[in-house]
Amino acid sequence: MTTFWDRHKIFEKNSIVLIVGILAVVAIGGLVEITPLFYLKSTIEKVDGIRPYTPLELAGRNIYVREGCYLCHSQMIRPLRDEVERFGHFSLAAESMYDHPFQWGSKRTGPDLARVGGKYSDDWHVAHLKNPRSIVPQSVMPGYAFLASTEVDTTQIADHLRTNRIVGVPYSDDEITNASADMKAQVNPDTPEAAELLKRYPKAVVRNFDGKDGAPTELDALVAYLQMLGTLVDFKLYNEKANLR
Ligand code: HEC
Repeated sequence: MTTFWDRHKIFEKNSIVLIVGILAVVAIGGLVEITPLFYLKSTIEKVDGIRPYTPLELAGRNIYVREGCYLCHSQMIRPLRDEVERFGHFSLAAESMYDHPFQWGSKRTGPDLARVGGKYSDDWHVAHLKNPRSIVPQSVMPGYAFLASTEVDTTQIADHLRTNRIVGVPYSDDEITNASADMKAQVNPDTPEAAELLKRYPKAVVRNFDGKDGAPTELDALVAYLQMLGTLVDFKLYNEKANLR
């Protein structure tokens, strides 16, 4: 009588048959896991308050990437007690859904920045970015004083919004047409243009970030970005909805 084990010998004695057998089994497992993802519109849970970046924030984000801030700073708070107590509510997938590329990072020479928005004043950021040691004497962070004297490029921002739209960020035609105007408006509070900006991007922080009049600088853009990080979700409402404390 041939038993199961006799038949299994084919696999044990013949490596090619074994490889084909393994591939077949792994393929079934793969299909079961992967196929449903093609039928889901999104694997990210929607969260109230999340919106695409304003043009100035996006420009600041581009500077953040250009200067390699991610090499020393993460933007991802893990759901561990020590992290949550130090940095705030753990990061949600939705909070980086419009990030291309995401800035989770993998190294913390400096602290996590996922919720740094509103933690310090603009003046603090300006002084700190120009010369970190003026505020934290032991800091190993490089200074970025040149950002203060470099005007941010407003001519190409519409293309940045358009590119983000190609990869899935829902920028409207209206937002793309007004991108360059919105960028200038964000450093000019109490103007009709700033009111328009706020209609397009709720909760945007409109301020003269670097304290200098005139065209927005790269420092304005970077501080605008830092000041909005982690501020879009109202965590009191989120936790109530998600039944978390
Ligand atoms: C060589 C590593 C390094 C790089 C690169 C770096 N940082 Fe830092 N950063 C640090 C360290 C260390 C600290 C903590 C000491 C301090 O506050 O200066 C810090 C602190 C900060 C803080 C204060 C955070 C808090 O919660 O107190 C901010 C904001 C910040 N960095 C922003 C930036 C930005 C924006 C860039 C890129 C333009 C950048 N950093 C690049 C190392 C770095």
